[in-house]
Amino acid sequence: MSGIDGRTKLFSGNSNPKLANDIARLLGTKISPLELTQFSDGEIRCEIPDHVRHHHTFIIQSTSAPVNDNLMEIMLLADALRRQNVSSITAVIPYYGYARQDRKPGFSRTPITSRVVAKMLQGVGIGQFIYIDIHSEQQGGFFDNPVINISAAPIVVADIYRHVDMSNLVVVSPDAGGVARTRAIAKQLDDAPLAIVDKRRPEANVSEVMNIVGDVEGKDCVLVDDLIDTAGTLCKAGKALKENGARSVRAYATHAVFSGKAYDNIANSVIDEVVVTDTIKLFDFPPPNIRQISVAGLIAETIRRLRSHQSISQIYTGT
Ligand code: R5P
Repeated sequence: MSGIDGRTKLFSGNSNPKLANDIARLLGTKISPLELTQFSDGEIRCEIPDHVRHHHTFIIQSTSAPVNDNLMEIMLLADALRRQNVSSITAVIPYYGYARQDRKPGFSRTPITSRVVAKMLQGVGIGQFIYIDIHSEQQGGFFDNPVINISAAPIVVADIYRHVDMSNLVVVSPDAGGVARTRAIAKQLDDAPLAIVDKRRPEANVSEVMNIVGDVEGKDCVLVDDLIDTAGTLCKAGKALKENGARSVRAYATHAVFSGKAYDNIANSVIDEVVVTDTIKLFDFPPPNIRQISVAGLIAETIRRLRSHQSISQIYTGT
């Protein structure tokens, strides 16, 4: 991959500096210096020590836990940048938090958090957004400015080809909402057969499996999801697949939110391996059946193409 021009500056917040550094390294540059600390009452303080005027700037920061602090870091850094009259501000938010509350169901008295966050981020002058596998693609409509929703599918598909017996594969959606995502992955895996877990959510963060739709008997099942939070969905789906005769169960998810007892749930589950990307930094001491693959190359290539005015979709179509 060729490097990036001298008028581009990359910044990282505190959510995932390793991913930001990996992206910078692939682009032949370094993350620009930034003072990002907290006052003793928790208020965030931000100062850019170097010259940035008329540069194209990229803020690389997932809004993972601590969600509100990480979001606020992006907001303050963007404000500091626009006050320096930079040429552009792009927020690279590999994991876009608050995305699960993307609609107001029925007569519920709830906010649409994803829209609230989109408006806040645009309010501080961010002109363009890059995120990966947002919970539902139509959320791009909450932004008035351009958004680029990168898919982790190329690295997921490549990893499945490397690790799974393709002749015995069934790709499984852990719920009805994930069918389109799972079907897209199955298509790239020589049109592998599909199964669907019929999941119900009696309340937030609690899932119940009702049925498996499709044939999984004796099969090597690969569950595909956008995120794993408490891992309740995943572990119950894995158990149901094994109870229905699956030979093995592997899971792939883009975002390793891993809150609550996720590590314990995964360690004690019947799932042979859980593969997640590095959009979110893993907490210490993950169980041995968790493996991480990196989206740094996909993001670096997207930034490089943006700055050299090349097509982004060609990363996926190769044309
Ligand atoms: C649901 O629509 C999502 O795609 C995930 O399946 C869900 O948010 C995972 O949550 P948990 O790991 O807490 O079951």
